[in-house]
Amino acid sequence: MTETFSGSFTQQEPIPDEAIEAALAVLRHGRLHRYNLAKGELGETALLEQEFAAQTGARYCLAVASGGYALATALRAVGVRPGDAVLTNAFTLAPVPGAIASVGARPVFVGVTESLTIDLDDLEAKAGTARVLMLSHMRGHLCDMDRLMQICDDAGITVIEDCAHTMGAAWNGVPSGRQGAVGCYSCQTYKHVNSGEGGLLVTDDEEIAARAVMMSGSYMLYERHLAAPGPEVFERIKYHTPNISGRMDNLRAAILRPQLRALDAQVARWNERYQRIEAGLRGTPGLTVIERPEAETYVGSSIQFLLLDWAADKVQEVLRRCIARGVELKWFGTPEPVGFTSRYDSWRYAESAPMPASDRVLAGIVDMRVPLTFSLEDCDLIARIIRAEVGAVHQS
Ligand SMILES: Cc1ncc(COP(=O)(O)O)c(C=O)c1O
Repeated sequence: MTETFSGSFTQQEPIPDEAIEAALAVLRHGRLHRYNLAKGELGETALLEQEFAAQTGARYCLAVASGGYALATALRAVGVRPGDAVLTNAFTLAPVPGAIASVGARPVFVGVTESLTIDLDDLEAKAGTARVLMLSHMRGHLCDMDRLMQICDDAGITVIEDCAHTMGAAWNGVPSGRQGAVGCYSCQTYKHVNSGEGGLLVTDDEEIAARAVMMSGSYMLYERHLAAPGPEVFERIKYHTPNISGRMDNLRAAILRPQLRALDAQVARWNERYQRIEAGLRGTPGLTVIERPEAETYVGSSIQFLLLDWAADKVQEVLRRCIARGVELKWFGTPEPVGFTSRYDSWRYAESAPMPASDRVLAGIVDMRVPLTFSLEDCDLIARIIRAEVGAVHQS
């Protein structure tokens, strides 16, 4: 009998009861705007920022409307100007070059290795061309952060970390987002906490923090923040920093606070599922599992493998056979952007030179979501299906 899988690859878990109760309390009092506070009230958004700063060990935190907004705000806050070059990953998703383009800057793409991380040799070669690197920890894979920071420190490059896929991850125990000057996170439904839309930005730099708060639309109400610098820092920047509204609201913050408290437990559940799938795939002829470095604490909310040097029609055949059995895989080798699987040469507003070594890797990347609604048995079944179909096409 041919086994098939009937679960949904896009179905996340429900919002926890504690978060629903907190959201209802906000709805009942009606003060959804973050600065609309009753006497003595601190507000869900300010508390969320205070708690996330403590959780990541950052001095400052700002909650905003989306992960993409956090990225663009970080670029502006570190002083990126129209026309500036900004280094970024060739293997990432559209909001990353999009954030760079949104401030009028130019993405300069850095290659991807077979470990699915930024090519540090290519970064070193391009280090002289830009002042800022927007480093995307794409699909949760952390590069050798010690070497990356050394390259960037030596070249005077400011690092902004895109942690949309690494909230809860760490490198040598340092939370992802805490090695660069700014860390940016997404709280959108498909990420590690779910408020529909939302973003968080952390930094230890008081001027970056103050500029980000002003830009997000604080008017002159910055003293209502609990994880922002003191008023003397705002005095220095407030007349020179435009308001580009993108605030978080108290409803979303209320939903997020209990989810952040449960993050470590959720990470453990994701990794159990990831490891079951990985174990099921390991040793499949023609398929390369991505090895995770020892220094990396990852969050297995998605899994990737390589069908390296396979002909495009064979990869497509694997995808067709898997979806026929209910297993939805995405492929980064597709020449046309499909759903989220765009590639550096899909973003035609940004110039890019061909990158043959990266093209070879991208042409082999197969990607799959691992929502927490999958049971461990589901994960075993999915791995069996992929293994069988990769095997069948590989042999043919
Ligand atoms: C790698 C990456 N960076 C940034 C973002 C932006 O996050 P948001 O959707 O919250 O704007 C996303 C969202 O999909 C992403 O996948």
